[in-house]
Amino acid sequence: MKIPAMPERSHHVVHVGLADRAYDVVVGEQLLTELGPRTADVVRGRRAFVIVDDNLPKALTDGALASLESSGFTIATASVKASESNKTIDTTARLLHAVAQTRQDRDDPIIAIGGGVTGDVAGFVAATYRRGVPIVHCPTTLLAMVDASVGGKTGVNLMTPTGLKKNLVGAFWQPALVLADVASLASLSERHLRAGLAECLKHGLIAASGPGQPAGPGDELFRWTVERLIKLRMGDSELLEELIATNVAVKAAFVVSDEREESRGTGGRALLNLGHTFGHAIETIPHLTPDGRPDNAPLHHGEAVAFGLVAAAYAGEALGRFDGTQAEAVRVAVERMGLESRLMGLPSDEAIVEAMMHDKKVRGGRLRIVVPTGPGTAEVVESPPEDVVRAGIDAMRIRR
Ligand SMILES: NC(=O)c1ccc[n+]([C@@H]2O[C@H](COP(=O)([O-])OP(=O)(O)OC[C@H]3O[C@@H](n4cnc5c(N)ncnc54)[C@H](O)[C@@H]3O)[C@@H](O)[C@H]2O)c1
Repeated sequence: MKIPAMPERSHHVVHVGLADRAYDVVVGEQLLTELGPRTADVVRGRRAFVIVDDNLPKALTDGALASLESSGFTIATASVKASESNKTIDTTARLLHAVAQTRQDRDDPIIAIGGGVTGDVAGFVAATYRRGVPIVHCPTTLLAMVDASVGGKTGVNLMTPTGLKKNLVGAFWQPALVLADVASLASLSERHLRAGLAECLKHGLIAASGPGQPAGPGDELFRWTVERLIKLRMGDSELLEELIATNVAVKAAFVVSDEREESRGTGGRALLNLGHTFGHAIETIPHLTPDGRPDNAPLHHGEAVAFGLVAAAYAGEALGRFDGTQAEAVRVAVERMGLESRLMGLPSDEAIVEAMMHDKKVRGGRLRIVVPTGPGTAEVVESPPEDVVRAGIDAMRIRR
């Protein structure tokens, strides 16, 4: 008897329709083993400079490199230690020197395999080497799949007299292709999976404000995600694939409508910063921990965003724009993710506001925050009243 072939699970493809900078984000299993032919389809050059997160299981990167070689690519590799303190100009310079030693020309691709730190630095290298060479992103964390690899923001942190400033130096540089191999998440820690889920909750809270979002209950994506949080945290790959493809589609819609975050109104790409102005202000405070355990300090980016979502929800309530029960639902969702929703050891309100004022989102000296305003909708608020910002900070603070 002939055994029927196992039906192949088809990949999800999200097209980011940016005219001459358009590209596909492909989401599915075992995509790293197809890196070679898929890259050959979108670039002309056949020398690949591969920048790899040094923490990845060897089998993952070996499969990707073998696929490139069998598609005729000559490969040079460099590794990156993924940490915020290593996402620097120095790392960028080291990588630029390494690329310059290969005979890469303008058609030859840089390929990033790793989380958001690797992708942001590699993207910046690609944006600046020879004034821009193609980059293929292969994100290997949930956060990088649903967020960092899509939309073309690249960059590094900068140490300034007032401390480390996140993503202060960078460039917009859209990739030629994004391959999100869901199988690569198998080795990711639950803590990092959780950090990615925070960005998914954020997308759920703004999805109905996005251009071209289908009509229907505005909080559909938020509810879908919250209801499945436990299974998602356990790494259910089919659910993760669906989650990633949906979140990429949400992000892509915002990016296509306002590629460079230039919209001056209350919407546009800036809505993707929900939770980030509060989040960035606490992310670089070294002693903060997501669960009260000192050995878990500092916060990861996605964890800081999760606390920032709680702050933004209560700031929205204080503004009279977001219902109290909905704000409570955001807190409950964050707790369901396995995080505390209040932090121990937060500095004074004044210190946090000062840190928020240094955020890149500040324009003309005016603070801008994003607050949720209803089921799945959000708005940019410029120069929010002080008591509104304090209500947000207070919502993150542990009560004595
Ligand atoms: N460019 C953008 O639009 C954008 C958007 C959101 C976040 N970011 C940036 O992304 C960064 C955070 O990204 P992240 O959360 O992916 O952090 P990360 O890159 O530091 O990765 C998290 C950890 O997981 C490890 N890792 C990566 N893939 C793995 C795998 N498959 N198996 C096992 N371990 C793995 C890494 O070595 C690291 O220790 C921040 O710097 C943030 O500013 C950028």
